[in-house]
Amino acid sequence: MFKEEFNRKIETVSLALEKYFEKADNYQKTIYDAMAYSLFAGGKRIRPVLALACAELFDSGEKVLPFACSLEMIHTYSLIHDDLPCMDNDDLRRGKPTNHKVYGEAMAVLAGDALLTKAFEISVKFSELSPEQTLREIEVLATAGGTEGMIGGQVIDIESEGKRVDAKTLDALHLNKTGALIIAAAKLGAIAGGASEDDIKNLSEYAKNLGLAFQIKDDILDVEGDSDILGKMTGVDEINEKTTFVSLYGLEKSKQMLDEYTKKAKANLKPYGKKAEFLEELADYLLKRKN
Ligand code: IPE
Ligand code: IPE
Ligand code: MG
Ligand code: MG
Ligand code: MG
Repeated sequence: MFKEEFNRKIETVSLALEKYFEKADNYQKTIYDAMAYSLFAGGKRIRPVLALACAELFDSGEKVLPFACSLEMIHTYSLIHDDLPCMDNDDLRRGKPTNHKVYGEAMAVLAGDALLTKAFEISVKFSELSPEQTLREIEVLATAGGTEGMIGGQVIDIESEGKRVDAKTLDALHLNKTGALIIAAAKLGAIAGGASEDDIKNLSEYAKNLGLAFQIKDDILDVEGDSDILGKMTGVDEINEKTTFVSLYGLEKSKQMLDEYTKKAKANLKPYGKKAEFLEELADYLLKRKN
């Protein structure tokens, strides 16, 4: 039941992404090819699916789609840049050679920049929300992707390389580099669904715990995951001397913390009862994921 619903949502997001991403066949062909290469490489689409599921708590969910797709574009850009030799120096992403391996570093930087810009273009072009709601959605996207969000987290990540940071810094790292876009997904959904401020807060809290759990699992998979299933290289955190949950707490404790954050996330859904079944099952699915 969960898996069918999950696949249905992925299909909805995929169709929307194809609709919004128009590829021009002109002298800019290379950049469109490079953008599409990573965007349609087969990511899990967790963030747009989460946005859609949160919107569906309140209405049909359809109106969140341009913003859900924008978020997936911002996420994809963050991955292209994250893989660059000057960052994590990764060769494999979403089961394929990384963007810079195929298109070269300069084009990969531009493909990331272009996806980030395209995200805001489609938000404005395709929004069917009121101007007030649209502005609020755009603010959520910009803040989550920026210096107080994902970029801020990547800064802590890079500056923590080779160092032993404290627990507070590690929490800030995860909350920003990964949590911010996951919290944004929930907020985008709730706002598009016309949720109350209390509901926006509750769902953000759920997504905050889910986001922490998601990155802890990512850190665990880097150590004991299967590269073929993951679609990305393993062991890179150790090579890059990254500060991760595993490097700070060890595998066992990290798994315990993963459990705890997943439980906390599910507890945040209490007010929604049966309506939030999908979101509850999503938390369990992400806890057990192998990719
Ligand atoms: C990978 O995100 C980067 C992190 C923030 C941990 P995902 O695991 O969602 O990657 P895709 O989108 O499925 O490729
Ligand atoms: C990535 O964290 C977070 C981003 C903002 C892209 P990681 O560097 O751990 O992600 P993976 O493991 O390469 O997907
Ligand atoms: Mg990284
Ligand atoms: Mg990385
Ligand atoms: Mg990782």
